Amino acid sequence: MTTLLSPPVQRLTWLRWSCTTAVGLSLWCAGAALAFDAQGHRGARGLAPENTLVGFEHALAIGVTTLELDLVLSADGVPVVSHDTTPNPDITRDRSGAWLKTRGTPFHRLSAADIGHFDVGRINPGSRYARDFSSQVPSDGERIPTLAEVFKRVNALRADHVRFNIELKLNPTRPDESPAPAEFVKAVLAVLEQYRMTSRVTLQSFDWRVLRAAREQAPALPLSYLSAQLERYNTLVSGDWTDGLRLADFDDAPSMVAAAGGSLWSPNFRDLSQPLLARARELGLKVIPWTVNDIPDMGRLIDWGVDGIITDYPDRLRSVMQSRGMALPPQVGTTPVRDTSAMAPPPVVVPVPVPFGVAPDLR
Ligand code: G3P
Ligand code: CA
Repeated sequence: MTTLLSPPVQRLTWLRWSCTTAVGLSLWCAGAALAFDAQGHRGARGLAPENTLVGFEHALAIGVTTLELDLVLSADGVPVVSHDTTPNPDITRDRSGAWLKTRGTPFHRLSAADIGHFDVGRINPGSRYARDFSSQVPSDGERIPTLAEVFKRVNALRADHVRFNIELKLNPTRPDESPAPAEFVKAVLAVLEQYRMTSRVTLQSFDWRVLRAAREQAPALPLSYLSAQLERYNTLVSGDWTDGLRLADFDDAPSMVAAAGGSLWSPNFRDLSQPLLARARELGLKVIPWTVNDIPDMGRLIDWGVDGIITDYPDRLRSVMQSRGMALPPQVGTTPVRDTSAMAPPPVVVPVPVPFGVAPDLR
């Protein structure tokens, strides 16, 4: 073809081809480099109150690809952002400002308005949780937001690049505290559609019944299969959490995810090994481990080739990524956490230890 063109036209054609290819390649390279998914766990739990608007803003200001957050469903059908299916005394004060002494009524039996009265802006200083997250800067008065409020805040900040890894919190062993999976998924999908966020969301759950319901109701939505294989909390053994599948019937965890129809496996990072990562790759799975908070672990997992990392400290993750020359997600706004420590702190109440199984917190 080009032999029919005059030399100047040939040069122009070549130049156009080169430019188009260069732009295409650079976009492809940027896309490939940015494909690593840096996720802020519960916003940035190590730095700001978890699962709060101020926490999500903090994560956006540091710069993350994805905001990880947890949902429960209120009695009146509103998805609200909480890791726990019942109010957690480690982080919760009632409307009089007093720390909760025990876990009370499950969120699923409270209205969204009532849930909105709890203050979750500070970790109870008397708790072990406060020692675990001693760098978290409190923001007294922070409320439990609804999913809609999170989307509104992200839109107001114009953080149009950010994705959401939304965990639906159900406990199949405590059905009295949770909605039915299909009902929960339906309510969440309605909010995604209302705020036109469907294309920016992955739904995740330890309860794989939820993921089946999500696939039935929204077949194109990306799903993340969570697993934990801790001694005191193993979601793969009994079949309760995994929609009837049992690890004993499979070679390994990735095979279970593949059998459930999944394409993204999100294990506790301590459960992940290089052979298991290779196995997941053989099965065509992406792998994004949680919750990775130490820099050496982050570096090791990136070098193994995981697709992303979920962390309470997105600032640490960015420094590891930067040291490896990886592209960093955009930073939006400024860190909003208002340190209220100098103000009269609320009285310390040592919370009653939470019995395991109520709402496992795996750190
Ligand atoms: O995204 C996975 C991770 O959040 C699961 O652990 O207990 O913090 O919700 P958890
Ligand atoms: Ca979570």
